[in-house]
This record gives sequence, structure tokens and C-alpha cells, in this order.
Amino acid sequence: MNKKDVDNDKQKIQLLVVNKLVRTIILLIIALFAMVVLFYFYNRPGTSIANNTGAKSDTTVYWKAVDINSISDTTLKQQVQYGKELIVHTAKYFGPKGIVIKSTNGLNCQNCHPQAGTAIFGNNFGSVASMYPKFKARSGTKENLAKKVNDCFERSLNGKTIDTTGKEMQAMLAYINFIGSNVIKGTKAVGSGPKDLPYLDRAADSTNGSIVFNTKCKSCHQYNGQGLLNADSTEFIYPALWGKNSFNDAAGIIHISLFAKFVKNNMPVGTTYAKPQLTDEEAWDVAAFIISQPRPHMATPKDWPDIKTKPIDHPIGPYADTFSVSQHKYGPFKMIAALNLNNKK
Ligand code: HEC
Ligand code: HEC
Repeated sequence: MNKKDVDNDKQKIQLLVVNKLVRTIILLIIALFAMVVLFYFYNRPGTSIANNTGAKSDTTVYWKAVDINSISDTTLKQQVQYGKELIVHTAKYFGPKGIVIKSTNGLNCQNCHPQAGTAIFGNNFGSVASMYPKFKARSGTKENLAKKVNDCFERSLNGKTIDTTGKEMQAMLAYINFIGSNVIKGTKAVGSGPKDLPYLDRAADSTNGSIVFNTKCKSCHQYNGQGLLNADSTEFIYPALWGKNSFNDAAGIIHISLFAKFVKNNMPVGTTYAKPQLTDEEAWDVAAFIISQPRPHMATPKDWPDIKTKPIDHPIGPYADTFSVSQHKYGPFKMIAALNLNNKK
């Protein structure tokens, strides 16, 4: 080898080293960039890793109620606003001290339909304008919206039905139909209806539930679940959960699964589906405790004319299967659900 060859080789090796260095640096820059991007996405507010729920990040676009302020027709706007007022402060108009008629238990529609029926997974009215009139297994008929509202008057508000042609019913219908007018007819609003809650492997336990009630609910709903009225007794500050001023035993929320799902995603007040405060067990158990308490009775001999369509967690028999009343009321439900595929609520 002469000197020239040695120099040439040296140069080649130097080139190779530089080449490798450049490649390593480029790879490092790419890796760093990827890390920054990943870190940013996992730590956006509302994503799971940031709030430690362990669930996958939720990129779902949920329904948003149409804004009443966008109504330009003043007559319609006033009607819709009155409808909202009736849903938010129902007791002021229909309760024991109601100014329209004294008929109901004093609950407001909003107590069970939070944020005037606009809360995601809060029994909202998102799918009402788009889905009604709708076949309901409970009555075995196609129901219009006025019938459904009057159902909540008779059962959830333990009161009398109101005139479907009257100013009040018309205003409530106008409000409910307006806020859901952005949902395509025949489709369901995303985030309406109850959010799934897995069945427990055991029956819900009302003894555990009483402990949950005492530690997490009683401070507002009071020691015997009777709620707390405002100073002039026109409306509840904290609504009754049982007793004479609560929903009756024919109300929809008497079904333990509906109750547990509502509580899991909405209670204590201010809770949302994105950040529930109760474990699944606590939600089922407190539901078992509350649905076991005394409340007004309403006879409903015509409900579920086709008994096979009765919800599996309806607490009052008869049933199409041979599971006990207690198992239908408190679970365990997995086996009943597996055998009743046609009537999951
Ligand atoms: C005690 C709780 C409670 C109160 C109070 C209550 N509701 Fe309901 N409401 C429910 C539950 C639970 C459902 C869903 C299950 C069912 O259909 O029974 C429901 C369903 C509805 C629906 C049908 C929603 C759908 O997507 O099909 C409408 C409309 C409605 N309620 C209106 C009202 C109005 C208006 C009031 C007041 C006059 C009212 N509710 C008071 C619990 C309540
Ligand atoms: C910080 C006070 C507070 C706590 C704690 C609380 N709630 Fe409520 N709850 C409310 C208020 C206020 C409403 C009515 C919400 C509205 O009108 O928007 C309500 C409504 C309800 C309703 C529907 C209306 C009714 O009377 O049936 C149920 C069911 C309910 N709560 C159950 C529970 C359960 C179970 C717990 C305990 C796990 C609980 N709440 C804890 C304040 C509270």
C-alpha cells in the first residue's frame, strides 16, 4: 500500500463515520418529534390518561342542543322559552303550590333530565324530535310526544295528565322539539339514552347501598330521602328520592339498571359521564337501596300487553320467564339477559 491508498482509505472511513452520525441524528430528531406529538395527544384535557380513568380517549362528537337564542321568530322564541321554564321549574307551575294547577309531587322535569334535558347521558331529549312518534313496548302502541310527556306527569311526577292542546303542553313540546331539531329524522342523537353499565356478577346489595347513600347522597337528599324544599316550599333544592313526594312505582326510573346508569353518570349533582364519582358496584347498590324504599303506588294493569317485551329489571311481576321477582328486581342479570335477548332495555 502506498501513502495515497492509505489516505484514500482514511477518507472513506471518515465519510462513513460522518454518514452514520448524520443518520443517527436524523433518527433521534424523528424520535423526539414523535414523543412530543404522543405526549401532546395523551395529555389533552378530557383524555383518559390525563384523568387516570384507564379508558381509551374519547373522541366521540356528542349531540349539542340547538341554541334557543338562534330563534328569530319572537312568538316561537317565547313559546320555546316558556317550555324550558316549565321543564326547569315544573313544581312552581304544577307542584303542591303550583300556579297553573296543583297536581304533582313537586319534582321538576329537570331533576331527572338535567340541564333542561340537554346533558349527555343525562336522560336528555336529543332523540325525541327525531324518533317520535315511536312504538313503545310498555303501552304496546305508537306513542306521540304529548303522550310520553303525560306519562312522566303521571308516573315520575305522580300527578295528573295535562291538557295536550293547552298552552303548557304545547310549550313543552315546542321546546323539546326545537332543541333536538338538529338530529336527522329517524336517527338517534349521540349521547342520548342511558350509557351502558356492565351487569354485576352478583345481585345488587341494598345493605351496601344504604352505606353509599349515607356517605354520598344523604348530605343533599336528606336522611330519609325526602329531599329539601326551598324557603317558600315551592320547589325542591334537593329533590325527594322516596316517600310521598317522589316518583311512583310505575315510573321508568324504578328499573334498577336505568337508576344505576343515571346515578353513575349524573350524581352527585354536577357529575358527568366523563368523570363519574361512583364505582359500578356503588351505582348498582345505591340503586337497589333507593328502589326498595316506600313510594306512591300506581296501578298499571295495561302495561306491557306483550309480556315478553317487559324489561328484565321490571320490579313487579308477572314475567314471561321463571326467574324470581327478587332476581328481576336486583339481579344477578347476566343469565336473565342471555335468555331474554328480545327485551334488553
Ligand atoms: C323521576 C324522574 C323523572 C322526572 C321527574 C321526569 N322524567 Fe321524563 N323520563 C324519565 C326517565 C327515566 C325516562 C326514560 C325512560 C322512560 O322512557 O320511561 C324519561 C323519558 C322521558 C321522555 C322520552 C325520552 C326519549 O328519548 O324517549 C320525555 C320526552 C320526558 N321524559 C319528558 C319529561 C317531562 C316533560 C317531564 C316533566 C313534566 C319529565 N319527563 C319528568 C324520568 C323522569
Ligand atoms: C351535592 C348535592 C347532591 C348529592 C351529594 C347527590 N345529589 Fe342527587 N340530586 C341533587 C340535585 C340538585 C338534583 C336535581 C338535579 C337538577 O335538577 O338538575 C338531584 C337529582 C337526583 C335524582 C333524580 C331526581 C329524583 O329526585 O329522583 C336522583 C335519582 C338522585 N339525585 C340520586 C342521587 C344519589 C343516589 C346520590 C348519591 C350517590 C346523589 N343523588 C347525590 C343533588 C345531589
